[in-house]
Amino acid sequence: MLEIINSLLAEISEAKVRGQEDLESFRLRFLSKKGLISDLFEEFKNVSASEKKEIGQKLNLLKQSAFNKYNSLKSEIQAPDSGSKIEDLTRPSYPFNLGSRHPISIIRNEIISIFERIGFTVSEGPEIEDDDHVFTKLNFAPEHPARDMQDTFYISRISSEDSCRGDILLRTHTSSVQVRVMQSQKPPIRTISPGRVFRNEAISARAHCIFHQVEGLYIDENVSFADLRQTLLFFAREMYGKEVSIRLRPSYFPFTEPSAEMDVSCTICGGKGCNVCKYTGWLEVLGCGMVHPAVLEACGIDSRKYTGFAFGMGIERPAMLKYQINDLRLYFENDIRFLDQFKTAF
Ligand code: PHE
Repeated sequence: MLEIINSLLAEISEAKVRGQEDLESFRLRFLSKKGLISDLFEEFKNVSASEKKEIGQKLNLLKQSAFNKYNSLKSEIQAPDSGSKIEDLTRPSYPFNLGSRHPISIIRNEIISIFERIGFTVSEGPEIEDDDHVFTKLNFAPEHPARDMQDTFYISRISSEDSCRGDILLRTHTSSVQVRVMQSQKPPIRTISPGRVFRNEAISARAHCIFHQVEGLYIDENVSFADLRQTLLFFAREMYGKEVSIRLRPSYFPFTEPSAEMDVSCTICGGKGCNVCKYTGWLEVLGCGMVHPAVLEACGIDSRKYTGFAFGMGIERPAMLKYQINDLRLYFENDIRFLDQFKTAF
């Protein structure tokens, strides 16, 4: 019996399989209930007491090696040695999942490209700013409510009552970038500044403490309000459609005089009145005006020689209109189900 066991051990250690079928015949031959090992265990009952110990151990060894071999042959079939297999180079590559652009980026790029077509450059500046660039140089009086903690996020406040110019804060508008441009460049200046801005607002479907703006600045000799109006009309028609009309309503900003608010005729109802325009027929789009001479002077530009206009708009609202997004918070959640919807929009 020992001889049979030894020859089976040798057979098992040399066994090779080429596939599932070979593997199954190996199992049937050695490991099944009617297999050879099972037969041997049957025979083992008749082995004399003196031989039982030796043959018993051998038999267990045989059974164990058959099991081990079976398992290793099985994993060989399932994961063939990659070195021995040539990759199929004609196979299509793995699918690449393309991401999508964020709706805010899409609209921002659209606004930038409209102004680039009429000669505006893009300027950027820091999000963490000082009071000087965000307020003081823009003609905000020291007691102006925008400087209040309720509107502005302060990082450090070192101000005394009458001087707050050293305060460090998160910019509340990108007009601060325009101050930097005026300080460092000579007219003619024609630039837009897109960027993130921060205001201390409670977060809701209609308001957020972070949002995005594109502001514009044009300074040269003889720039007039008519130039401003014409530039904005061009922008509105490129952005909202050839058929829209605009209107300018008088308004107030410390850094422009005169100042105005621009509306476009409602893109949903065409001006007839609907719930999006609250039945007024108009949508408020941006603030604008002629740069205040005090601002030009504060930034080192001769206000007797040069005039200019400025405008500024949020990006969130036009994107909401275009894509019918009804909750501002969706922009910030990065929910893939929301973002996926912009896959084809570039
Ligand atoms: N800075 C203004 C705002 O944040 C927008 C604006 C810019 C208005 C330039 C007039 C001129 O609301």
